[in-house]
Amino acid sequence: MKFIKATNYEDMSKKVANIIFSQVTLKPDSVLGLATGSTPIGAYEQLVKWYQEGQLDFSKVTSINLDEYCGLTPENDQSYCYFMEKHLFSKINIDKNNTNVPNGTANPTVECLRYEEVIATAGGIDLQLLGLGHNGHIGFNEPADTFAKLTNHVQLTQTTIEANKRFFSSIEEVPTSAITMGLGAIMQAKTVVLAVNGKDKAEILNKVMNGPITPQVPASILQLHNNCIVVASVQG
Ligand code: F6R
Repeated sequence: MKFIKATNYEDMSKKVANIIFSQVTLKPDSVLGLATGSTPIGAYEQLVKWYQEGQLDFSKVTSINLDEYCGLTPENDQSYCYFMEKHLFSKINIDKNNTNVPNGTANPTVECLRYEEVIATAGGIDLQLLGLGHNGHIGFNEPADTFAKLTNHVQLTQTTIEANKRFFSSIEEVPTSAITMGLGAIMQAKTVVLAVNGKDKAEILNKVMNGPITPQVPASILQLHNNCIVVASVQG
């Protein structure tokens, strides 16, 4: 794993955005695996700025998002579909037909199979952007007894529900399950960028990078990826 130390959230966001800038510049028809949550917002803002300045063109890009809550429609302002529209897709020239987010209202079993097809049809992912959960999850691949290879329907852990309640008006509103891309597609991405912000994530990041490779810390599997870049601002 390559470790890039950032000084603060803004610096981390710029560094992550720079990597994506290079990817799209070098390969305009890149397949980008995208994440939601608080971590990538600053990087998306920077990409939008560069697009508005005419420095970036997303017209040939395909995007495949990591995950979506079950039960939320795209119009629900807590859905990841809504998040992507708000923070990125509505502000750049990506072709909406080339954007993909799991459908949280579809039958989960059918949707997982469909999403695997989406990834395969796109020819896999060129650059996968990831955030890191406090329990080591990536996408919504939660700590488990085995690594989940394929897109799967996952019950969210209490830690994740607690962590994500800040986006909802009450904990009861946080969905209890989600559809997430599996670790197979993430590990097959040509480049993986793990963005981490906040000293509350320092301990789990240390386990991810230096601890045993175990499904109890799903992101630890990234130690086996041959082009994984960690961009982190986790100092106090
Ligand atoms: C979001 C996702 C999650 C988040 C993680 C960190 O699409 O897949 O794995 O990246 O929960 O969330 P934040 O950035 O809000 O700390």
